[in-house]
Amino acid sequence: MDVRPFWLAGRPATGDAELTVTNSHDGRVVGVCSVPTPEQVEEAVAAADAVRKQAAALPLHVRAAALTHVVRRLTERAEEIARLIMEENGKPIFWARGEVGRAISTFQFAAEEARRLNGETVRLDTEAASAGRLAYVSRVPHGPVLAITPFNFPLNLVAHKVAPAIAVGAPIIVKPAPATPLSSLVLGEILAETDLPAGMFSVLPVPNDRASALVEDPRLPVVSFTGSGPVGYAIMDQVPRKHVTLELGGNAAAVVLADADLDWAASRTALFSNYQAGQSCISVQRVIVEERVSEAFLAKLIPAVEALVTGDPADEKTQVGPLVSVEAAERVESWVKEAVAAGARLLTGGTRDGATVAPTVLADVPRDTKLGCEEVFGPVMTVQTVSGVDEAFAAVNDSRYGLQAGVFTRNLDIAFRANRELEVGGVIIGDVPSYRADQMPYGGVKDSGVGREGVRSAMEDLTYEKVMVLTGLSSL
Ligand code: SIN
Repeated sequence: MDVRPFWLAGRPATGDAELTVTNSHDGRVVGVCSVPTPEQVEEAVAAADAVRKQAAALPLHVRAAALTHVVRRLTERAEEIARLIMEENGKPIFWARGEVGRAISTFQFAAEEARRLNGETVRLDTEAASAGRLAYVSRVPHGPVLAITPFNFPLNLVAHKVAPAIAVGAPIIVKPAPATPLSSLVLGEILAETDLPAGMFSVLPVPNDRASALVEDPRLPVVSFTGSGPVGYAIMDQVPRKHVTLELGGNAAAVVLADADLDWAASRTALFSNYQAGQSCISVQRVIVEERVSEAFLAKLIPAVEALVTGDPADEKTQVGPLVSVEAAERVESWVKEAVAAGARLLTGGTRDGATVAPTVLADVPRDTKLGCEEVFGPVMTVQTVSGVDEAFAAVNDSRYGLQAGVFTRNLDIAFRANRELEVGGVIIGDVPSYRADQMPYGGVKDSGVGREGVRSAMEDLTYEKVMVLTGLSSL
C-alpha cells in the first residue's frame, strides 16, 4: 500500500514514521500516511509565521479563487472522497456522501464571504469635535491558526476551520485526528493545486501526544479545537492568553410536545440518534416527551428505531454503521449496562457486535449514571416523560452541556419561549437538535464550548476589528 505524504507548507513530504488507518467495520487496513518529524513540524510552523503578513495582504480574488478551486475539485472527486471517509471513519456511504456535499458548501460559502470582506465606514461627525473625521473598520487576522480536528467528520469539520482561515488570510496548520487523517490529506492535495503562497497551509498527522508543543507555540496565536471537553479545556488552561475556540460535546435533547406531528418526530429522532452511529456532538441523546402523547410517540419511535438498517458501511442501504473503534463501542455498551443495572428500562437494542452497537432506546435512566448526564457519543437514546412545557424546558437545561436542542411543536409562542429559555447555542423548532446548515452560527454554551463556527462566524472569530480614523476631510 502506498504511503500518503503529509503537507508541509504546501508541498508533499514524508517523515520517519508511519500511521496506519483501519476500517472499524472489518479491521482492514485502508491507508497508511507518513508522520512528520519534530524538525518538519518546526519547519511548518516557521513557514506559517513567515507568510502571515503576505497572507493577510492577499487580494480577495486570490483567496476566493483558491476556495473556488477547492469547491470544483471536491465536486470532481466527490465519490472517491466519500469512499475514503467511509473507509477511515466507518460511516455509511450515504452519510459520507452527505459530508462531502456539505464540505463543498462550506468552501463555497467561504469563497462568497471572502468577496464580501468590505469593512465598513462609521461617520464620526456626529459631534462638532469630530467634524471632518471618518472611521474605516476592517477585520484583521489574529495570525496563524492551529486547527485540531476530530474523527467524526474528517472532511467537513476540517473544512470549517480551513475555509474561513483562507477567506480571512490566515495561515493554518491542521492536526487531524489520528484515526482519520486521510480525508484531510486529500484536502491538502487539492489546496496544493492552488496559488496560495507556501506556508499558507500544512496538514500534519502527528500523534495526539505531540499536539501540546504546537498548542504552546507562540507563533500560532489561534487554537481552534473540536473534540472532547477534557482535552479542549486542558488546551484553554495551557494557553490562557491565546485566542482559543472550543467546539465540544453535548447530550442534545429533542422535546416532543403534545401538538407535534408524532410520525415526523419519531422518524427524525430515531434516525438522528443513530446517524453516524451517534457520533455527532448534536445527535439526539435525550428525548423529552409530553406525558399525554408519550405512549403514542413510543409506539411510533421503537419500530422506527428497529427498522434502521445496521451493517456494512459500504452497503448503500446501511443507515447505522460501526463506531470508530471496538474500544469506543465497548465503552458505549458498558454505559448502557451501567444504566440498566441502576434501574433503567431497555426498550430496544443494547447489544454489540465488534464495533457496532445496535440502535438503543432506554427509559427511566437515573440522572446520576454516565448515560444520564454525560455525552454517550454512540447510538443510544434515553426517553423521559414530562408533564408539560415548563418541565420539558427545565429537563433540557438540566445538563452541563448546551450545544443545540430540538423542539417539536407547531406553536410559535412556544418556539420563541424555547429560544428565550433553553440554555443552548442553537434551538431547532420542528426538528431534531442534529440539524446544522454550514452557513449558520454553530457552537455551544456551558460545557459545550467557547466561540462559534459556521463560515461567517468563524471568519469573525479568526479576526479582530481594526479601526482607521481619517482626519481633516473637507466633506463627507
Ligand atoms: C459536530 O459533531 O459537532 C458537528 C455536527 C455537524 O457538523 O453536523
